[in-house]
Amino acid sequence: MARAALGWIPQELEALEARGLRRSLETLAPLQGPVVEVGGRRLVNLCSNDYLGLAADPRLRRAAAEGAERAGAGAGASRLVAGDLPVHRALEARLAAWKGTEGALLFNSGYHANAGVPPALVGRDDAIFADVLNHASIVDGCLLSRARLLRYRHGDVQELSDLLSRTRARRRLVVTDAVFSMDGDAAPLREIAALCDRHGAMLYVDEAHSAGLLGPTGAGLAEALGVADRVDVHMGTLGKALGAFGAYVAGARPLVDLLVSRARTFVFTTALPPAACAAALAGLEVVAAEPARRAHVLALTERAKAGLSRLGFDTSRVVAPILPVVLGSEARALAASAALRERGYFVRAIRPPTVPRGTSRLRVALSAAHDEAQVDGLLAALAEILPGLPPAE
Ligand SMILES: Cc1ncc(COP(=O)(O)O)c(C=O)c1O
Repeated sequence: MARAALGWIPQELEALEARGLRRSLETLAPLQGPVVEVGGRRLVNLCSNDYLGLAADPRLRRAAAEGAERAGAGAGASRLVAGDLPVHRALEARLAAWKGTEGALLFNSGYHANAGVPPALVGRDDAIFADVLNHASIVDGCLLSRARLLRYRHGDVQELSDLLSRTRARRRLVVTDAVFSMDGDAAPLREIAALCDRHGAMLYVDEAHSAGLLGPTGAGLAEALGVADRVDVHMGTLGKALGAFGAYVAGARPLVDLLVSRARTFVFTTALPPAACAAALAGLEVVAAEPARRAHVLALTERAKAGLSRLGFDTSRVVAPILPVVLGSEARALAASAALRERGYFVRAIRPPTVPRGTSRLRVALSAAHDEAQVDGLLAALAEILPGLPPAE
């Protein structure tokens, strides 16, 4: 029984339920892969960010096991106290080489990086310019910094330019997702980089959904667009395409040195466990050695885009394996997810506050471990279920 002081919570949960906003956990039977077992049924998994199919790759699993054997199950302390291990340094060197930067610093997750880095770079006298659809972790980091937060319409370079022209802030930080997590579209990085150069603003790019996927070496959207050297803060996660866990910020040496002292989410937390770092190193090896994986998942993405457009969904701006099937109300998205599950497809409904009100959706995420038949099967199932959904509001 909950204590009386927590008596308000059941009502709160009921209110969430009534609005179609209550969230719940679903346990997947191991292993993570293109087909998973959920509630005793085998389903095609279309909502993981394991874009290259590496989370269950035997090479990464072996690397993780060996990493733990060699250096222990846990790091035991924060990096700055007694937790700085050779595997951390090796992974940082590898990430910096990949990103073409002077250095890199590990964070325990993308959330930690985005929550901790903006406050290390800007404060009360400064301004942050942020795309309205940036990931929640970036928003939290911006709010924690106490800098003035100016949000520009999604991808609207003109509005960003106007805001930058008007600011009198001491320092300016422009921050954007490279590929937007719920829409799969790309930030106009070339134009944004040009504006940052013109206004002396720092440019912070979150490559959570593009690193490992886009660009000649898979380094991300900045590499793909040829603007990597104009990005000041390259942030990315190790838990999505790279198949492991953790995150990094790559950039110039003074930036990394400052973060070591100032980023509270780096300073005040236990270092990443060796297994995660060893797995990420193995993931980076695969990204370098097997470009066919990203080519395959991007080809599947094009196939899904064509099919979704035949069903009337606009996915024309999608550049990564994230396909928004926007359905409108929470009820409609939940009904679609349940109907697809009946047909053998696991795609969870995405609702506010993850996406703006009125744009609840299915977020279909593809992986290099999927095949064409699975994509075609999903498209056929969608075509079947759409007429039976509750009406759009
Ligand atoms: C754009 C973006 N940044 C950061 C994160 C957080 O990364 P992590 O899962 O490593 O905490 C996510 C997703 O989780 C994301 O979509």
